Amino acid sequence: MAFIPEDKLLEIKDAASIEEVVGQYVKLTQKGRNLSGLCPFHSETKPSFTVAPEKGIFHCFGCGVGGNVFSFLMHYHRLSFPEAVQELARRYGIPVSLKDLGPEGARQAKKRTTAYEANAAAAGFYAATLASSEGKPGREYLTKRGLTPEIIRAFQLGYAPDAWDTLARHFQHRGIPLDLAQDVGLLAPRDRGGFYDRFRNRIIFPIFDRQSRVIAFGGRSIGDGEPKYLNSPESLLYSKGRTLYGLPQAAAALRATGVALVVEGYLDLIALQVHGIGNVLATLGTALTREQVRLLKALAEKVVLVYDGDAAGAQAMKRAFPLFAQENLAVRALPLPAGMDPDSYAQAHGAELFRAAWDEAQPWFSYLLEDLIATHGLDIEGRVAVLSELRPFVQALTDPVEQDLWLRNTSERLGVDAAALRKSLTSLAPISAARLDPRTNLAVSLEKAVIRWVLGHPEAITLEELEEWAEEFENLELKGLLDLFIRSYREHGRLDHGLLVQQAAGEIQRQHICALTLEEDESDGPAGDFLAADWRRDLRVKHLKKARARLKARLKNASDDEEVPLQVQWREIDQQLKDLSAL
Ligand code: UTP
Ligand code: MN
Repeated sequence: MAFIPEDKLLEIKDAASIEEVVGQYVKLTQKGRNLSGLCPFHSETKPSFTVAPEKGIFHCFGCGVGGNVFSFLMHYHRLSFPEAVQELARRYGIPVSLKDLGPEGARQAKKRTTAYEANAAAAGFYAATLASSEGKPGREYLTKRGLTPEIIRAFQLGYAPDAWDTLARHFQHRGIPLDLAQDVGLLAPRDRGGFYDRFRNRIIFPIFDRQSRVIAFGGRSIGDGEPKYLNSPESLLYSKGRTLYGLPQAAAALRATGVALVVEGYLDLIALQVHGIGNVLATLGTALTREQVRLLKALAEKVVLVYDGDAAGAQAMKRAFPLFAQENLAVRALPLPAGMDPDSYAQAHGAELFRAAWDEAQPWFSYLLEDLIATHGLDIEGRVAVLSELRPFVQALTDPVEQDLWLRNTSERLGVDAAALRKSLTSLAPISAARLDPRTNLAVSLEKAVIRWVLGHPEAITLEELEEWAEEFENLELKGLLDLFIRSYREHGRLDHGLLVQQAAGEIQRQHICALTLEEDESDGPAGDFLAADWRRDLRVKHLKKARARLKARLKNASDDEEVPLQVQWREIDQQLKDLSAL
């Protein structure tokens, strides 16, 4: 971990309100003194994700993830710690120098910045090449495919010449580190040293993130080069399962319509854009992932899958449906005639179908049901096969009402008794949220209760008291927490949840702090205080009894002049124990 000065962290953390930051991604509603919402890190239908604004932390009782405002951004955007700190500092206008990030953090930050620069330079180089005399084959190809100059510009399309090292030489000339260009997959090392270009004689599709930064490239062969599409490898900037193609170009249309069309190919997306359909995103050569569904959820209220009209397209759509159901995002399927993809369909018939995509599309469940019936037929064996394939999809319907409606629909369509169908398809109910609730697994121990109380009343605790307790704790994990509190208290003169989370010795400790803090909130009120008083008393009694046992041992071998002061102490302890009515 990078060593960013804790005072700097506190400054940023105090400026950044956690409810504001989290609120940008999660719809939060007030619940007592905290806020709750649907967890962005796992799928759920009842909110178990809690934000405690006063304490500057969040915790999900469903999946256990928790932390402060930095951890939230790290999890949500997959940032490293220094990146999350930088991002928040930037948002809230707090100056952070590279020096503040520490040597390792500064090195990482520099590396990413340079990697973005290398990608931007490559995109610029390929675009310029497309426009140059060298780019003629590329321009001819794109014109043949119906692309206009405006579209080529909007997507910053380019051309990688049919040569081995034009980009490598360009980079060398411009002083862009070649090893970093290798890291992001633009160059590959030669056996005999040096580098060669990864993309050759290909149309280049830069892949942008939401902030319009180039994070990767796709390259379509226009000669006989294999494979048809060559893509950047996963890198420090790029993870193909976490992004979608066309994000910046679709942003405005997504906001305006609230509907996202998802297609499979770069050129499918671009063909629709040529026809004036802007609200389109494309997957990047992989099956749709949960992360991509969550990304879609942040961008649109409804999604229409428009995959190729072939078996692979149908299969890919079917695989995606349960993810949408689990993430609670409305999805429909818009099947295309056999052998067509959105590109060829739009060339042949125009784009009307896509303009009203949501209305033209089928609810995913009925699409699925018809697809299965088409595959297996409606004789008895066929219907049995349909039902058995349907089972996981029925279970993915988390809303009981919706599930019920589709079960009725299925029973009518297949001519199967509704009750029998329900029994057969829902017998293996999905694991309920309650069974995953970690609270039921937490052993309620005295020590845990004390930690909880400290976290709930940090202002009421003295350093001395913490130290006294630390001596008594037997559970090493919990003692570790208490030791952390003591260290933090000593260094900063107070206990601050957000900072404790930062200082935690690892993910588990961090989660414990968040969970125990928010459990305290849940069990708050006079009863909580009353119990806490009891726990504190118990601990105190334990402590005094130990001290008395030590005194007893010392009294045995004490010299005459030692005996009296020891006796005085003994009596004092006895008195305290009596006051606590433990004698
Ligand atoms: P398609 O083969 O359907 O290509 O692959 P396409 O987008 O319709 O392109 P054209 O019209 O044939 O030129 C769909 C997507 O799958 C990924 C690419 O993202 C492509 O856009 N893909 C395909 C690869 O990554 N590698 C391949 O070799 C092929
Ligand atoms: Mn295609």
